[in-house]
Amino acid sequence: MSLTVAIDGPAAAGKGTVARAVAAHFGFAHLDTGLLYRAVGRRALDHMEPVEAAASLRPSDFSDIEALRAPEVSQAASRVAAMPEVRAALVDFQRAFARRQGGAVLDGRDIGTVICPEAEVKLFVTASDEVRANRRYRELAGTGHEVTLAGVAADLAERDRRDAARATAPLTAAKDAVLIDTSRMSIETAVQTAIDAVAAVHNARTRG
Ligand code: DC
Repeated sequence: MSLTVAIDGPAAAGKGTVARAVAAHFGFAHLDTGLLYRAVGRRALDHMEPVEAAASLRPSDFSDIEALRAPEVSQAASRVAAMPEVRAALVDFQRAFARRQGGAVLDGRDIGTVICPEAEVKLFVTASDEVRANRRYRELAGTGHEVTLAGVAADLAERDRRDAARATAPLTAAKDAVLIDTSRMSIETAVQTAIDAVAAVHNARTRG
């Protein structure tokens, strides 16, 4: 059985949490596609040409996930993600992952629109700017990064603008995506809403 769950949305809306919970609930594999762009951004900060970096990612580029979450890497990721050749170099890997046997959850910005327009389930997870900035601030401060709330808010706003305005695969909800606004929702409710959406499709399939 292959079943793809595409989860898109802006930074810090809760899509990673929802994606991990859905994957764990159904026993599906999970790919945080933002990490691919973060790894390319990290290598670009180390002076590697971004397209070459995207075409030659190795497991060791993901050995320190915490470092890939640093604010300077977020910005670098968003910048390299605006380059069509970088995105093109990462397409095959993501599509192969999406079609693996046993089910897959991918979260990112363009999964339901560009990478897997045929995904069986599409979710668009979002939240207000203020809620997202507060969440990301708490996350970063809690893991020892030296950040201010105003700095985090400005960083998110800049990334959102770049991610949504770029010509190739801009951040946008697929027409057939289920919208989950987590601004005033508990994590549990957001996760349950996502699980219900996936279960509707999954149950129909496993019943044959
Ligand atoms: O999800 P994230 O915040 O870890 O993603 C980091 C950056 O990577 C984000 O600002 C935009 C880019 N990205 C993208 O363009 N397409 C994706 N599918 C995932 C991330």
